[in-house]
Amino acid sequence: MDKLVTLKIDGRSVTVPAGTMIVDAAKELGIVIPVFCYHPKLKPAGMCRVCLVDVGRPQMDRATGAPVLNEDGTPKIAFGPKLETACTTPVSEGMVVWGATEKVMEARKDVLEMLLTSHPLDCPVCDKGGECPLQNLTMKFGPGESRFKFDEKKHLAKRVPLGELILLDRERCIQCGRCVRFQEQLADDPVIGFYNRGRSIQITTFSTPGFDSIFSGNTTDICPVGALTTSDFRFGARAWEMKEKPSICTQCPVGCNIMYNIRREAKSSGRMVIKRVMPRQNEEVNEIWICDKGRFTYHYAESPERLTSPLIRRDGELVQVGWEEAVSYAADKVKAAGSSLAVIASGRLSNEDLFTLKTFSNRINGKAILHTTISGGDWVSRCGLTPGSNLGELGGNDTILVFASDLHEEAPLWWLRVKTAAERGACLIVVNPRKTRLDKYACHTLRYVYGEEGKALQEITSSSGEIASAVKEAENLVIFYGSEGLGLAQSAYVAESLAGVLQSGGRVGKPNNGLVAVWQKGNDQGAWELGFRTDEKLQETISAAMGVYIAGADPASEDPQLKIALQRAGFVIVQDLFLTETAKLADVVLPARAVMEREGTAVNGERRLQHYLPAIPAPVGTRADHEITSAIAQA
Ligand code: SF4
Ligand code: SF4
Ligand code: FES
Repeated sequence: MDKLVTLKIDGRSVTVPAGTMIVDAAKELGIVIPVFCYHPKLKPAGMCRVCLVDVGRPQMDRATGAPVLNEDGTPKIAFGPKLETACTTPVSEGMVVWGATEKVMEARKDVLEMLLTSHPLDCPVCDKGGECPLQNLTMKFGPGESRFKFDEKKHLAKRVPLGELILLDRERCIQCGRCVRFQEQLADDPVIGFYNRGRSIQITTFSTPGFDSIFSGNTTDICPVGALTTSDFRFGARAWEMKEKPSICTQCPVGCNIMYNIRREAKSSGRMVIKRVMPRQNEEVNEIWICDKGRFTYHYAESPERLTSPLIRRDGELVQVGWEEAVSYAADKVKAAGSSLAVIASGRLSNEDLFTLKTFSNRINGKAILHTTISGGDWVSRCGLTPGSNLGELGGNDTILVFASDLHEEAPLWWLRVKTAAERGACLIVVNPRKTRLDKYACHTLRYVYGEEGKALQEITSSSGEIASAVKEAENLVIFYGSEGLGLAQSAYVAESLAGVLQSGGRVGKPNNGLVAVWQKGNDQGAWELGFRTDEKLQETISAAMGVYIAGADPASEDPQLKIALQRAGFVIVQDLFLTETAKLADVVLPARAVMEREGTAVNGERRLQHYLPAIPAPVGTRADHEITSAIAQA
């Protein structure tokens, strides 16, 4: 256990682990010390000085080393001549901190006045207005007026594209360095930094293309002023005009918790629209981060190419019809196919959709198929992570094994969390046919060529060797597996072998131990739990079936052989948001709703069940997938 230290802040006593910074110790007491450059997820930098506090330490007798006592026997506290920054000063035994004295308040006021001397004060048009720490702290602690003349301010460029997604207003930057430290310390994409010095110091990008990082949007969240904005949201809405709608990102198996900020707007004909997507704090899933895919892809929902009316094929052409006609047409086809119906779904669907579809498939004795590139979900169900697990707790004596997956590409937030676990001391083993961005954090890397993944597995499961002992001797063991260089059968075999490692180590059911599949879609694990299975002979299954019912999957665009099989199929029913390559081949196309337009639940790769609610109204003419299946079943 960490050594504990007791100190007093504003006259109240608190005990915290040694090494804690004063600012964090104050939080334990509910005392808020103002900050700009400090961020709980980043290393302290001491750049802005707004957190200055008066710090006293017990006075020691230089000759004896014993504490000097007051007449009443209490330790004599010596205060330094200068204030100290609460974000970079670690606590010490007997320390006394005053965070709201006249001297401290005066210093805070001076720091704010100094920051404002080179700040444009364009709050009335600034994107951060209404949620800006600089605005708030100035109102609370700042001077009522400036002694500087506006004309003497430094004027800088106000619309500097750092990259396609992020814009910089150079005048608004208070040089706190949060964005730079985030990119260096967390995203491991040190593509932005400071150049010049003094009042000319500016943020710039060093990469080509500019700000080349899949986590770039997070810098706009942590920028304490409106200096960094997304090109997507900039001048889009004021903070107080928007409502918050909590949701889940379903773009990958991480299932990051997000917040949709929505607003009714005239230019969208008075409709409620999503103005931006923000991360929603969940320390067990995504902490306070999301990747740029999760932040910016929501626009697909407002695409003019969305399907809003059912289509059926007449004389070789897809023509618009009403729901009743389309449903009864689909139902007749289903009836004719009977048990010779193949039902193909993906983790785009919610658990409720998948349950309805599976029940429907069971009733007609059809086959329920999960369309994905990874298999072996049974093993995840049996040996997956249990409630109470948190990748954020891994470190020290733990081992993380990543097999056949590039987490940076496939599940960015898992990459971030695995990387930080490795930085905390966890042993990382990366097994992949090619180099990935996790390799540099790994204790061990192994390569295999297609068809020879067994050799790598042998190295992991053998009784000798460093890799085998890192796996066996770990206090906790989390294993991610994907399908890079593997087919469905091989990934099932990999899952079984890796589950065997967890079983033989007696780890199944223990928190922070388990198998995680890096699925392609947000709810593939849910589909597996609800009975959908991958089909290694999907082409043959489609060819042999009298009809195919596809929900949320687009096999025709992913595999030319499947496209040919679908072209030859007796009939094809598709429910989707767009006229996909598969939908173009269908006899009936039924328009579905997007995740932000409906309620549902999804199971993420860590087997965490998460609930989402509608954030915006669905386009007229669309239905949730489970409603479509129910309508066909009823008909
Ligand atoms: Fe800080 Fe924002 Fe300037 Fe970056 S752009 S240094 S986060 S104020
Ligand atoms: Fe969405 Fe995955 Fe990115 Fe999280 S990591 S925001 S779940 S795409
Ligand atoms: Fe402490 Fe910036 S918050 S110096």
